[in-house]
Amino acid sequence: MMEIVPDEDLKNIYNSFDIIGDIAVIRLNEYSKKYGQLIAQAIMKMHHNVKVVLGQISPVHGEFRLRKLEHLVGENRTTTIHKESGCLFAVDLNKCYFSPRLFYERLRIAKLVGCGETILNMFAGVGCFSIVIAKKSDVEKVYSVDVNPDAVWFMRENVRLNSVHGRVIPIESDAKEIAKRLRQKVDRVLMPLPEKALDYLPYAVEALKPGCGWIHYYDFEHAYKCEDPLEKVKHKVREKLESLGAAFNFRFARIVRSTGPNWYQVVLDISVSK
Ligand SMILES: C[S@@+](CC[C@H](N)C(=O)[O-])C[C@H]1O[C@@H](n2cnc3c(N)ncnc32)[C@H](O)[C@@H]1O
Repeated sequence: MMEIVPDEDLKNIYNSFDIIGDIAVIRLNEYSKKYGQLIAQAIMKMHHNVKVVLGQISPVHGEFRLRKLEHLVGENRTTTIHKESGCLFAVDLNKCYFSPRLFYERLRIAKLVGCGETILNMFAGVGCFSIVIAKKSDVEKVYSVDVNPDAVWFMRENVRLNSVHGRVIPIESDAKEIAKRLRQKVDRVLMPLPEKALDYLPYAVEALKPGCGWIHYYDFEHAYKCEDPLEKVKHKVREKLESLGAAFNFRFARIVRSTGPNWYQVVLDISVSK
């Protein structure tokens, strides 16, 4: 490829791509767009398990966190089955959010879950966090909510594929409605939607059992070199939780990934006492 793509364009090509099941997704920007086919063919040649290459031509956007995709080479489809940590995830990339980059985070959370816990996953997508937890821990139930009907359809399919019936409960709804209405309060709440996590924090606290519970809070934060993104997120979460009168402790914090120049995805594990 170095012989065909001029050096000045090569340095601007964002050359990272994801492989989801047998589909590769390349992020195409204004520089790499014209080389989409060429890059796609190179990926197909290098990865024999890849049967489809799609170009991502928009950022993830909207309530359902979808991205615009265009077909580049291979079979013309957007559905696949992805394997991760011994689990199978069926997904239509055109209709549902999916990121293989969160695999470590899903395993990390699963390892924290105690025997007999009840969990609320407020933004469950096709069920990845919930299913990894159900397969890797002795959790009793994970109420798994998503507002996107297609994501919930695939979540039900994934419950079947992974034989976690009765332990992962797919629910199509706005998470705040479920958090308010849950008859059985929970030990732990997952909030894997940075765009809404701060606004939905009061509902997460409301869903917890009296006593001590956990919230796994995900956010995006901008931070210059001289700033600490973890401290910036803690600052705004502290203000919010104090305004709710909750007693809490930040037990763990980490940068999950960098999402752009000076932008970070951050997770806080917060213990909350009520
Ligand atoms: C970043 S994705 C979730 C990723 C998922 N946890 C995973 O590991 O693949 C966020 C999800 O939240 C859903 N969502 C957005 N607003 C919501 C709301 N108010 N209530 C419930 N789900 C919502 C979107 O449809 C999307 O599937």
